[in-house]
Amino acid sequence: IRMYDIIKKKRDGKELTKEEIDFFVQGYTNNRIPDYQAASLLMAIYFNKMNKRETLDLTKAMINSGETVDLSQINGIKVDKHSTGGVGDKTTIALGPMVAACGVPFVKMSGRGLGHTGGTLDKLESIKDFKVELSKEDFFNISNEINIALCSQTANITPADKKLYSLRDVTATVENISLIASSIMSKKLAIGSDAIILDVKVGSGAFMKDLDSAILLAEEMVEIGIGFGRETIALITNMDEPLGYAIGNGLEIKEAVETLKGKGPKDFYELCLSLGSKLLVLAKKSSNEKEAREMLIEVVETGSAYEKLLELVEYQHGDIRYIENTELLPKAEYILEVKSDDEGYIKSMNAEEIGKCALILGAGRETKESEIDLSAGIVLNKKVDEKVSNGDVLAYIHGNDKEKVEEVKEMLRDIIKIGKKNEMSKKLIYGEVT
Ligand code: URA
Repeated sequence: IRMYDIIKKKRDGKELTKEEIDFFVQGYTNNRIPDYQAASLLMAIYFNKMNKRETLDLTKAMINSGETVDLSQINGIKVDKHSTGGVGDKTTIALGPMVAACGVPFVKMSGRGLGHTGGTLDKLESIKDFKVELSKEDFFNISNEINIALCSQTANITPADKKLYSLRDVTATVENISLIASSIMSKKLAIGSDAIILDVKVGSGAFMKDLDSAILLAEEMVEIGIGFGRETIALITNMDEPLGYAIGNGLEIKEAVETLKGKGPKDFYELCLSLGSKLLVLAKKSSNEKEAREMLIEVVETGSAYEKLLELVEYQHGDIRYIENTELLPKAEYILEVKSDDEGYIKSMNAEEIGKCALILGAGRETKESEIDLSAGIVLNKKVDEKVSNGDVLAYIHGNDKEKVEEVKEMLRDIIKIGKKNEMSKKLIYGEVT
């Protein structure tokens, strides 16, 4: 087999065999195939697509590129949750403690932010001394003792995805259903959880911009999960405007803490309840979603979900004072207000553009090597549909570079649109794929 022939075949719209896909994935992982050939094939796949069989073989090849993790040493039914990526998506940090407080193991290997979307590990690192790198033994022990552990993926899980993802990120080949589905599902399947719940985002801040593509992506991922013998379901959820009010690492930790204290944003809390109730049913903690939802509300109202977060931080060597008093979280030197010079209602705001603003402030990475500013970000003061008067604060910008803060202020004035009525869907959950 020659890489040249594989590229040519896909360029001409033909189906690749399992052997050709294996050859490509192994060769690229082992540095035998150069970036330019891999990039050409990715672009050919982007234009000519892969069918379901090819996508399944690609997923298998990526799983086989590295180690797999057996979670059988952790007691109970383990459920993994994964979001396809969004802006202000701090779900794991609130949902994990809620689910664990209900007695269901929530053990997760999370990722870092890339592009305009944030990552759970970066957010957790705004808690002083919080350790995201755990040995397998520590990961298992902590999970068994407190029902929750959140750590980074070890270097050896799906190395093919690591290389391919970075290449896709810089060659405009991220937004392809087969490439996203195999990237996410290879990581999920390499880790032996019993069930998987996928939060497939759709809208301006998501990789899938329209509902039809999001449904196709969800169907493809669910089919792959089930094909591997894992119970897998997907919820399709709104990412037209950011989730909650806070965007940026430390700022999002604060919002997750508030949510666990019952004082979080409505949309964000509702998403946690919807995903969480499905999770409890998948883990057989409850026989129906209505009861599961009540259990989740109860652990928030009694404070046991919040206590669970404190326990998690303590077991992962973090300083719990940062949770008890969120004023201690990293603070930006400048906090600027963006004020309205019009009145009416917020009619739209583009989540991807807002994610990019956060990136400019330093909340995300331009490249894999960039350092993150954990204090930087944006806190919205109004969301779509809310009434505004002249002079109302629309958002607060947190940053340490005065020029960038000013630049983002101008950008946000354009992004947050005011008019007579809402022009965006406020529907939080579009549907479920099983
Ligand atoms: N998240 C992933 O892990 N992979 C993708 O391709 C897109 C989102």
